[in-house]
Amino acid sequence: MITVALPKGRLLNDFMEYLEKQGLEHYSTGLDAKSRSLYTTVNDVKFIYAKGRDVPIYVENGSADIGIIGLDIITENEFNIMNVSRLPFGECHFSICGLPGVERFRTIATTFKNIAFQYFKQKRQQVSLIHLNGSVELAPLLGLADGIVDIVETGSTLRANGLIEYEKIMDVHARLIANRQTFYTKEDEIYPFLKEIGVFE
Ligand code: PRP
Repeated sequence: MITVALPKGRLLNDFMEYLEKQGLEHYSTGLDAKSRSLYTTVNDVKFIYAKGRDVPIYVENGSADIGIIGLDIITENEFNIMNVSRLPFGECHFSICGLPGVERFRTIATTFKNIAFQYFKQKRQQVSLIHLNGSVELAPLLGLADGIVDIVETGSTLRANGLIEYEKIMDVHARLIANRQTFYTKEDEIYPFLKEIGVFE
């Protein structure tokens, strides 16, 4: 049996929509967990529902053989995993955002401190970075920071809070990741699954 780590939230919904479009309802309905159970098994494939940030940790340690994760998470932190391929969903991007009328960003709130640090370093722009765990859009509204570096997907969170995008930093999409050992030792099980879901030829 192989174990697939999935990130709870938006990316899981995107993956289920993708499976549905591929006509793989047995997987999409099987994954549509209504209970609080953190795993499910479909066709001898065990799926675990993890926090997005923890997906690469389960894969790195071999608790999961493969995983689905946003490029944001594996760009922000380094993991000893195989970054196998791009998946055709989960498109969004990182931007610098703030209230209208900011002339120069001095303090930036973000959950992605390394991505923000690299970006401003490369622009040779000095800013203070404040780490927040989520809902970073609050920071400029409360005067904690004059800008944020955050993920924008539909733009509705920004609009709802009167914020605008100043500059796009990088594109993000979903990635297939794999454990460095079991991707080969369990290839007889992993490849047919990836082929079935249309990820590999
Ligand atoms: C992400 C991101 C933005 C929002 C953007 O947050 O941090 O807040 O989605 O999406 P939108 O452009 O479609 O509105 P998420 O919902 O994952 O929660 P978080 O704020 O706790 O990080």
